Amino acid sequence: MTDRLIPVIAIDGPSASGKGTVAQSVAEKLGYHYLDSGALYRLLALAASRRGVVLDDEAGLAALAAGLDIRFEGGDAWLGGERVGDAIRTEACGNGASKIAAYPAVRAALLDLQRAFRTVPGLVADGRDMGSVVFPDAALKLFLTASAEVRADRRVKQLIEKGMDANIQQILHDIRQRDERDSARSVAPLQKCADAGLLDTSAMTIAEAVGEVLERFKQARVQ
Ligand code: DC
Repeated sequence: MTDRLIPVIAIDGPSASGKGTVAQSVAEKLGYHYLDSGALYRLLALAASRRGVVLDDEAGLAALAAGLDIRFEGGDAWLGGERVGDAIRTEACGNGASKIAAYPAVRAALLDLQRAFRTVPGLVADGRDMGSVVFPDAALKLFLTASAEVRADRRVKQLIEKGMDANIQQILHDIRQRDERDSARSVAPLQKCADAGLLDTSAMTIAEAVGEVLERFKQARVQ
C-alpha cells in the first residue's frame, strides 16, 4: 500500500498539553501505530550529551541524528542497547530537545525517520509539525492545547507520579519559555496550521479529549 493511503492523525500542540496521552490512547483504540516525535528530539539531546556533542553544533547534531539507533517498545524508549524512557523525560532533556529542534539540519535529518512510522493500518503522530511538515496529507489534523497554568499543573503531577522533584513555579516558567522558543523559531514553528482543528483541553478529562478526537476522525473520514 502506498503511504498516501495509510491514514494519519496528526496531533500538534505545546509542551504538556496532554497530546501525548491523548494520541497514545487514540492509537490504542483504533489499533494504529503511535509516533511520539518529541521523544526523537529528546533522544537526540540525550545522545548528544552522552557523545559530548555540544548543543550549538548543528552539523554534529544532524550527523548524530542521521545515525540515531533508537527503538520504542512497550511505552519505553531505547537508545542503542540502553533503556532511557525516564532519562528523556527530565526537564533538562526537554529543554535540550527544544534547543536542538530549532536547527533546520536536525529537523531535516529526522524527517525520514518520522515518516517511516507510517505503516498499516494507520498512525497517530504527535508533535509540533506533524500536520504542517511531516504528514501534510494527514486525514485529520488537530492542534491540541491547554492554558500554561493547566499544563504546568499536569506536568507537576506527572513528575510526582514518577517520583521526581517538581517545583510548579519553575515548571510554569520553563513551559512559557519553551512555548516562546518553539513558536518563535524560523523552521517549523509551533503554530496551528490553517487546516487543523483546535482542541482546547483545559477543562476536559483525558477520556473526553480522546472521545472528541475519535469523533472528529469519524467525521473527517465520511467527508
Ligand atoms: O513534545 P515534547 O515536549 O516531548 O518535545 C520536546 C521538544 O522537542 C519540544 O520543546 C520541541 C521539540 N519538538 C519539535 O520541535 N517538533 C516536534 N515534532 C516534536 C518536538
